[in-house]
Amino acid sequence: MKKIPVIIDCDPGHDDAIALILAFAREELDVKAVTVSAGNQSIEKTLLNAKKVLSFIGKHPPLAAGATKPLFRKLETAAEVHGESGLDGPSLPAPDFSEEPVPAVELLRKTIMETPEPVTLVPTGPLTNIAILFTAYPEVKKNIRQISLMGGGIEAGNWTSAAEFNIFVDPEAADIVFKSELPIIMAGLDVTHKALFLREDIAELRRIGGRVPILVAELLDFFFEYHIAQDFAGAPLHDPCAVAYLVKPELFSARQYHVDIETRGEHTAGMTLADRRHWSKTKPNVTALLDVDRAGFVNLLIEAFKSYEK
Ligand code: RIB
Ligand code: CA
Repeated sequence: MKKIPVIIDCDPGHDDAIALILAFAREELDVKAVTVSAGNQSIEKTLLNAKKVLSFIGKHPPLAAGATKPLFRKLETAAEVHGESGLDGPSLPAPDFSEEPVPAVELLRKTIMETPEPVTLVPTGPLTNIAILFTAYPEVKKNIRQISLMGGGIEAGNWTSAAEFNIFVDPEAADIVFKSELPIIMAGLDVTHKALFLREDIAELRRIGGRVPILVAELLDFFFEYHIAQDFAGAPLHDPCAVAYLVKPELFSARQYHVDIETRGEHTAGMTLADRRHWSKTKPNVTALLDVDRAGFVNLLIEAFKSYEK
C-alpha cells in the first residue's frame, strides 16, 4: 500500500496528543515531520508536550517549533480547557529527544520539497505556521496534495458564539490558508462535537490496559471534566477527526462549501462563513465534515491505542 506522506502541525493539547498517537499507529500514514504552534498553550509548553507524547509512544520524527504568537494579534491560550501545562492530567516522563535547531517554517519547507510524493498537511491548532509557510515559500504549494485541518464551524463557534478556537486565535492566518487554492478538508465543530468519547469508552480503555490506552484514559479524564461541565455528553475529540478522515473517510459525511474567514468583525472575528445559498455561484474551497459514525470513530481510535501494546 502506498503510504500518505503527512506533516502534523499541532498545539498539544489533549486532543492534539491523541491525534499524534492515532497518526503514528496507522500504516496508511507516513508522518514525515511534526511542527508545533502556539495555541492551547505557549509555544514552549506545546513543544514540550509534543516531545513528551512522542517520546512516550517511542516516535522521534523531525520536530520543530513555530511562531510564538499569531501573525498580528496577541496570543490567546486555553488553560481552562487543557490546564496550565497544556496537557494537565497524566504525569509524562521527560522527553528523550530534542527538536530540530530550525523554525517550523524551515522544517515544513524542507520536508515538503524533499518528499517525492505530494504531502498532506494536518494542522490541528492555529494556522500561523502554515500561513507563514505559504507567504515565505509559495512554491511549496506545488508539492502539497491537500490540507486536512481541525478548525472552524459552519453552524457555530466554541471560543465565541461565532468562532472556533483555532481560527479565532489567528483569523488572518486562516484567511491566507483558506485562500491558498489547495484542497481543504475542514474538520470543524459540526463534526467534532459528534466525535465524542463517552465515559464507557474511557472505562473500556482502562479495561484494555497497557501504557498507551491508560495514558489516553488519563488525558481524557482531564479533558472530559471540562466538557461535562459544559453539558457535553462526552469529550469531543476534535483533532483526531482530521487524521481519521485520511485513513477512514467513509466514517464521515461531508459537503462542499465556499468558506470565507471573517478577520474584522467585532463579534465575528474568526468565523468560518460558509456560503449555503442554494443559488450561490461562489466556487467551493472547502470539504466540510458534517457528521461521523461515532462508534466507528471510537473503535478506530481504540484499535490504534491497542496497537502500541503489540
Ligand atoms: O476548538 C478545538 C481546537 O482548539 C482543538 O484543536 C483543540 O486542541 C484546540 O486547539
Ligand atoms: Ca489543537
